[in-house]
Amino acid sequence: MSKKRIGIIGAGPSGLAQLRAFESAEKLGMEVPEIVCFEKQENWGGMWNFTWRTGVGKYGEPIHGSMYKYLWSNGPKECLELSDYSFDEHFGKPISSYPPRPVLFDYIQGRINKSNAKDYIRFNTTARWVTYDEETKKFTLYLDDLKKNRTYSEEFDYLIVATGHFSTPNMPYFEGIDDFPGAVMHAHDFRGADQFIDKDLLLIGSSYSAEDIAVQCYKHGSKSVTLSYRSNPIGVDWPEGIEERPLVTHFEGDTAYFKDGTSKRFDGVVMCTGYQHKFPFLPDYLRLKTKNNLYPDNLYKGIFFQDLPELIYLGMQDQYYTFNMFDTQAWLARDYMMGKFEIPSKEERRKDIDKWLADYDKVEDANGDVDFQAAYIKDLISYTDYPDFNIDKVGDMFKQWLKDKEDDILTYRDKTFKSVITGTMAAEHHTEWMDELDDSKKRYLMDEEQVEALEESEA
Ligand SMILES: Cc1cc2nc3c(=O)[nH]c(=O)nc-3n(C[C@H](O)[C@H](O)[C@H](O)COP(=O)(O)OP(=O)(O)OC[C@H]3O[C@@H](n4cnc5c(N)ncnc54)[C@H](O)[C@@H]3O)c2cc1C
Ligand SMILES: NC(=O)c1ccc[n+]([C@@H]2O[C@H](COP(=O)([O-])OP(=O)(O)OC[C@H]3O[C@@H](n4cnc5c(N)ncnc54)[C@H](OP(=O)(O)O)[C@@H]3O)[C@@H](O)[C@H]2O)c1
Repeated sequence: MSKKRIGIIGAGPSGLAQLRAFESAEKLGMEVPEIVCFEKQENWGGMWNFTWRTGVGKYGEPIHGSMYKYLWSNGPKECLELSDYSFDEHFGKPISSYPPRPVLFDYIQGRINKSNAKDYIRFNTTARWVTYDEETKKFTLYLDDLKKNRTYSEEFDYLIVATGHFSTPNMPYFEGIDDFPGAVMHAHDFRGADQFIDKDLLLIGSSYSAEDIAVQCYKHGSKSVTLSYRSNPIGVDWPEGIEERPLVTHFEGDTAYFKDGTSKRFDGVVMCTGYQHKFPFLPDYLRLKTKNNLYPDNLYKGIFFQDLPELIYLGMQDQYYTFNMFDTQAWLARDYMMGKFEIPSKEERRKDIDKWLADYDKVEDANGDVDFQAAYIKDLISYTDYPDFNIDKVGDMFKQWLKDKEDDILTYRDKTFKSVITGTMAAEHHTEWMDELDDSKKRYLMDEEQVEALEESEA
């Protein structure tokens, strides 16, 4: 009998987790199916693979990346540490708890670089369309080889969608914005704070992007930052220069009017209004339809598409836990595809999904969110041989992080946490976060003496 074929779309942290899961089974001497991973970008790493481009890439594909210059991890690295590949193993020394993007990008690549994963990935290849044949029980995946400008198709027994869900902007309209004279963009296209130095900036939204872009722009020299919320303000004690106002009602020229009757003139507007789960390569009957939340409906165990479990979605939840959650999902997906995890009847699956949805309904606050996602990961781990880690302790760190942010939004990134994988206490970064304007890996990994020497030589 020929080997089963598995197609993975996307080589971000989720797709790479799937490759790693199969690699780990292979190392244990198991025979693994034939795997091909398709990645539309030139390199792996998904969101962490920074691009300066906005709009479309060199082959005319929508740009995937939503990250920007000066982006630092917004949660402790100890909360995303991979159970089978520690930060100590990668960097050979303790590093701080909140590394900048290039350092986390380096970490993501470390584990996978040690394997032959690259052999399985076809870069510059976009998944364009999918069909499923009920009779042959196979997916046909239509692909564009962007470099050769060639379209072809291949058949698979299982299809993994690991294309992320923080790439397609949700862009609301506000009356009068058509005539706003300054820059108007979505957070997806924001590439750094530099263009807003000495400017008055308006951010619409009150979640992670709004909070982070506000603080970054304040740090790098914006004149003022105003956040405009729809439901709730972020509500921390903002420094002078950052304020929150209720939702914008309309614009007149460069002036925004708010629900509380106030108004202010701005140089630029960034919509931090979230993202759409968007799968333009999937027909309606295979498409996950959900808003950003911790338990999207119609996914058994958060990954198996209810109407067709051979279609597997990774990383579609809103995220507290990230890399380690993707791993636990990928391990379970692997075991299903290798015949080691049995999927129950459609009715049983529905009951299980409903139980999780009912539990999610009871969640009242962010601490409850963390507990809910921790319970979900524990459930996944219970079925597989993914190396167990202290999920509750990680949950405690998330709760401390939430408190630290509330205590001081400008200094929470100076805090340190202890790894549950190695027991190592994180190092204090050589420079306080608010004073650290350089996010390069080179500077980040310097010790205090090297920084002092560098600063002396520059003085
Ligand atoms: C601005 C921002 C900051 C973030 N900061 C943090 C943070 O500090 N800490 C944290 O833990 N998480 C953070 N995240 C969450 C981040 O989404 C996850 O860490 C992680 O990148 C998700 O991995 P993924 O593989 O599921 O998706 P992605 O990283 O989005 O990767 C998806 C991959 O699929 C590819 N792809 C998409 N469509 C196609 C197609 N049709 N054909 C072929 N390939 C395709 C893309 O090119 C991409 O490489 C942040 C997200 C954003 C938007
Ligand atoms: N490393 C970092 O520092 C960093 C930086 C940025 C983002 N991120 C990550 O990126 C991911 C996405 O975060 P996100 O903040 O972009 O999305 P999000 O968490 O989904 O939040 C979307 C926000 O947009 C608001 N919104 C939606 N529609 C609106 C409308 N029509 N008018 C006004 N407001 C509207 C929502 O308000 P309501 O509350 O009213 O719904 C909410 O505040 C998260 O995982 C986050 O961790 C990380």
